[in-house]
Amino acid sequence: MSTHPASTTRPESAGGSVPRHVAIIMDGNGRWAKARGLPRAAGHKAGAESARKVLRAAGEAGVECLTLYAFSSENWRRPQSEINDLMGLLRFYIGSELNAIHKEGVRLKIIGDHRAFQPDVARLVDEAVAKTAGNTRMTLAVALNYGARTEMVLAARTLARRVAAGEMTADQIDDAAIESALDTRDLPPLDLLIRTSGECRLSNFLLWQAAYAELVFLDTLWPDFDGTGLNAAFAEYAARERRYGGL
Ligand code: FPP
Repeated sequence: MSTHPASTTRPESAGGSVPRHVAIIMDGNGRWAKARGLPRAAGHKAGAESARKVLRAAGEAGVECLTLYAFSSENWRRPQSEINDLMGLLRFYIGSELNAIHKEGVRLKIIGDHRAFQPDVARLVDEAVAKTAGNTRMTLAVALNYGARTEMVLAARTLARRVAAGEMTADQIDDAAIESALDTRDLPPLDLLIRTSGECRLSNFLLWQAAYAELVFLDTLWPDFDGTGLNAAFAEYAARERRYGGL
């Protein structure tokens, strides 16, 4: 069951309706840093600042859920020093931002498996999720050690176990059953998926959920993205006609 019933009081963007659920592939931190002769870590730091700004802007626009791809299950292939930098940023931002997002009524949710992270980081994440669990104004879903195929494999196993336990039959497996076993089961349907930095791929992000989402690919590098870019993406979303396979 969704914890996000349709609301009639959400603000409208200039061009039309605001998407309920926006997901972002925050790409281009490394190129942003390289263009300035800076280390990649500086790009990630600037990228984390963009994430902070975009969360604020999304909340002000009336978005119910913002999902950010912060660390993919493929990111383990990066040099250990870069992984350590990303973990350091996660520690820093949980420390510095948690009270602010809690005060603003934001619920933090994790998709993926952050338990593979360093134990102190995993614990900080768990504490942040627990602290904000009762917040209802908006959900910030952060994808950590996330991969959509793994999410679907785990959902298949969950349903297979339900069938084996006699809780359901194989024929009862339908779209809703699969959705009920995905990490995103308590989030509104995905309306808009944005990727920055000019790449036009989904990179194993929200493959099931993106089935009817509007996809917006922007050339902007993630550290240059902010509330203005988000509103431009909303305007493009509002200008598109969503037919869900109909006429
Ligand atoms: C892609 O840029 C971005 C990431 C791999 C991670 C996104 C992370 C942040 C925005 C920082 C906040 C994250 C945490 C975990 C606190 P890239 O490095 O692939 O850029 P490139 O394609 O230009 O090299």
